[in-house]
Amino acid sequence: MSMRDQNKWPSHPRECRELIAEYSNEVANLCENLLKILSINLGLDEDYLQRVIGGEEIGACFRANFYPKCPQPDLTLGLSPHSDPGVLTILLPDDHVSGLQVRRGDDWITVKPIPNAFIVNIGDQIQVLSNGIYKSVDHRVIVNSGKERVSIAFFYNPKADLLMQPAKELVTEDRPALYGPMTYNEYRLSIRLRGPSGKSQIKSLKTKQ
Ligand code: OGA
Ligand code: NI
Repeated sequence: MSMRDQNKWPSHPRECRELIAEYSNEVANLCENLLKILSINLGLDEDYLQRVIGGEEIGACFRANFYPKCPQPDLTLGLSPHSDPGVLTILLPDDHVSGLQVRRGDDWITVKPIPNAFIVNIGDQIQVLSNGIYKSVDHRVIVNSGKERVSIAFFYNPKADLLMQPAKELVTEDRPALYGPMTYNEYRLSIRLRGPSGKSQIKSLKTKQ
């Protein structure tokens, strides 16, 4: 920390731990509300998605991403293409430095940060539970040549030992189950073994029709 920054440091800084816990609780509430809306949109009971991912016993992960500036951004990626494996991701991007891109067809579209707004990613488990009606988003991060970037990601995940599978109500003769049952633990392990590669992870889950 430089001397100039030290002068700005508050004399009684709030504990980082306390701040992260408060932020995480608020964002988890937001996820609960979003799951109600997604459940209703799918024609399911409003508590459906929250219930099948574990009710009160969901998993969550808070991550701060730091992307140093890079003089030759075209030679590197901050984060290679992937979809988030869990249920929902609430991303607080850097207000001043863009870098997140989402895939649409063969194009990568840069997401412009809006000050004080979150970006919400649908994760792979919503794709499974909705039997492919909602699709997780393929995204990546490019780095900036002149500025470093910080983003804060909150991952809302299922209780890791529950079986995730398409909702019975969304499986019909015309639309058979696209995914077989799998726990989040098993899914995470398969991703670690295969390495990051866009949306190939969730594609590999598809049952052979
Ligand atoms: C992630 C992610 C995007 C960003 O952490 O999974 O996609 O803008 N982060 O940092
Ligand atoms: Ni991501």
